[in-house]
Amino acid sequence: MSASAAPILSVRNLSKAYPLRAWWGGKASVFRAVHDVSFDIAPGETLGLVGESGSGKSTIGRAVTMLNPPTAGTVAFEGTDLATLPPRAMRRMRGRIQTVFQDPYAALNPRMSVGAYVAEAFRLHRPGMGAGERRAAVEHLFERVGLDPAFLGRFPHQFSGGQRQRICIARAIALRPSFIVADEPIAALDVSIQAQVVNLLQDLQSELGLSYLFISHDLRMVRYLCHRVAVLWRGRIVELAESDKLYEDPRHPYTQRLLSAVPLPDPVAERARLAAADPHLPPDVQPGDLVEVAPGHWVAGRAIA
Ligand SMILES: Nc1ncnc2c1ncn2[C@@H]1O[C@H](COP(=O)(O)OP(=O)(O)O)[C@@H](O)[C@H]1O
Ligand SMILES: [Mg+2]
Repeated sequence: MSASAAPILSVRNLSKAYPLRAWWGGKASVFRAVHDVSFDIAPGETLGLVGESGSGKSTIGRAVTMLNPPTAGTVAFEGTDLATLPPRAMRRMRGRIQTVFQDPYAALNPRMSVGAYVAEAFRLHRPGMGAGERRAAVEHLFERVGLDPAFLGRFPHQFSGGQRQRICIARAIALRPSFIVADEPIAALDVSIQAQVVNLLQDLQSELGLSYLFISHDLRMVRYLCHRVAVLWRGRIVELAESDKLYEDPRHPYTQRLLSAVPLPDPVAERARLAAADPHLPPDVQPGDLVEVAPGHWVAGRAIA
C-alpha cells in the first residue's frame, strides 16, 4: 500500500487513561492503557493490530471510532479531526466509520429479527427511506454477505456463529462506510468458518474500497489479511511494518518472541507463552520512540541495535 496516498485515518499521539477508583482515604489515579500511539491507514488498506490480551487493542479501536474517545492525541478521519465535530456531524460520520465485534450474538438484539436489525441502520440514519426501499436494500445486503434474504424474518438464535457475524457485517456496511474497525471478528468462530468470514471481509474491501483496522491475536490470519501490522506491547506500538517484512525480519524482541511459536490452542497456556515473551524492555524505550530502520519499518527504542 503506497504511503503517499492521503490517509483515510490518521492517529497521532493517542493516549487513553482509565480512572482508577481511589482507595479508601487514598488519592484517585489513572491506569494508562494506551500511550502515545501514532499510525495512518491508507484508503483500501488493512492495518493489523496485534498484541497480547490487555495490551490496549480494543481501547485503540474504541478511541479511533470515538465510541470511547482518547484522553490525549488526535484522530483525523478523511482529514477531519473527529474531536472537533459537533454532535450532529459526528452522528453523520458514524455511518462512515463502523465496528465489527468479536461476539456477534452480543451485538445482535435477541428480540429483533435480523432483517429488522440490519434495517435499523437505515431507520436511524436515512429517515427519508420508504419501507419498500429499505426492504430491498436489506435483501441486497444479505445477498452481499452470503445470506439467503428469505431468512431475514428469523431471529439471532436461529443462526450459526458465522452467519451471525455475516449479519453484523451486513449492518456494518449498510451505510457504505469507508473504514471498519474489526475487533477480533473471528476469534469466537469455529476454526472451519474463520477463513470464510475473513474472505468475506476481503471481498467487501475490494468491492467497496474499505479500509480496516483488524485487531487480532491470530498471527497467521493477520499476515494473510493485513497489508501492514502494528505490534502493541503494554499500550505502546513497539514495531510497525509491512506484513511480510514484519514476519520475515522482526526486529523488536517482543515481536520476535510473539512470532517465535505458533499460538497454543489452550488459552491458559497461550497466556503463559505470551507472558514469557514479555521482554521487560530497558527504561530508555520511551513512548513514541519509534525509529525507521528500513523504509516503512518502524521499531521502538534500543531494541533495534
Ligand atoms: N473501561 C475500562 N476501565 C478501566 N480499565 C479498562 C477499561 N477498559 C479496558 N481497561 C484496561 O485497559 C487495558 C487494555 O484493555 P483492552 O484495550 O481491552 O486490551 P485488549 O483489547 O488488547 O485485550 C487492560 O488492562 C484493561 O483491563
Ligand atoms: Mg480486546
